Amino acid sequence: MALLKKTRKAEEVDRSNLPRHIAIIMDGNGRWAKKRGMPRTAGHAAGAETFRRVATYCKDIGLEYLTVYAFSTENWKRPPEEVAAIMGLLEKYLGEAIEKMERDGIRLRFFGDTSVLSDKLLSLIHETDEITAHLGKTFQTNVCLNYGGRDEIVRAARKWAERVKAGEEGALDEEIFSSLLDSAGVPDPELLIRPGGEMRISNFLMWQSAYSELVFTDTLWPDFGPKDIDAAILEYQKRNRRFGGL
Ligand code: FPP
Repeated sequence: MALLKKTRKAEEVDRSNLPRHIAIIMDGNGRWAKKRGMPRTAGHAAGAETFRRVATYCKDIGLEYLTVYAFSTENWKRPPEEVAAIMGLLEKYLGEAIEKMERDGIRLRFFGDTSVLSDKLLSLIHETDEITAHLGKTFQTNVCLNYGGRDEIVRAARKWAERVKAGEEGALDEEIFSSLLDSAGVPDPELLIRPGGEMRISNFLMWQSAYSELVFTDTLWPDFGPKDIDAAILEYQKRNRRFGGL
């Protein structure tokens, strides 16, 4: 009994050594729906509920940032009905999130080229930006929408070129370049989780994940939950982070 207790304790998350920032590739919605004989869009609806549950959990355990990959620059290649369903879910969840942001003290930010999104999504994003601007330091969720890591880097490079053209002097360095990315001011994620069984980054946070610990799991995103966050944090806490040193 004593041994069992000891083993269990050793497997508990150390709450004093949590990552500040977790990033998640929400993958597996389509397969989750297919397994149940449901349309892929039902998988995205379930995935959106999972997003809400996981974000609440991350906030409750004291994380500072959660970044999720909701729609990539490549996802436009999907059938128009599926793209429309995902955009509809985003509108629904953003609308609801706005109502709760102030009450719950949750900041929302968007990474990606949002300029091509629908007017409705753009006005929801504008509204969340305004609320976020006057909220104090709280938990922040970054939603990546029409986001690609390479696209973000190219957009940052263009901003730098504009500055130089406008007469800015001085050399470009990593700190300045980071400040031109969508993630300006947000610390890099210490932990990047990909559910859904694939073991790749898929153009997510290419710059920011340089030293992130990667955790891959077979669990499909709609089945993902607090216990999977805990398992990933536990795995992260076992890693020896050296950042190129010894
Ligand atoms: C990847 O699963 C998932 C997406 C491309 C969409 C993610 C969108 C949501 C979870 C809904 C809205 C999000 C928020 C933040 C409210 P997949 O379709 O590639 O699954 P598969 O690999 O099984 O086909």
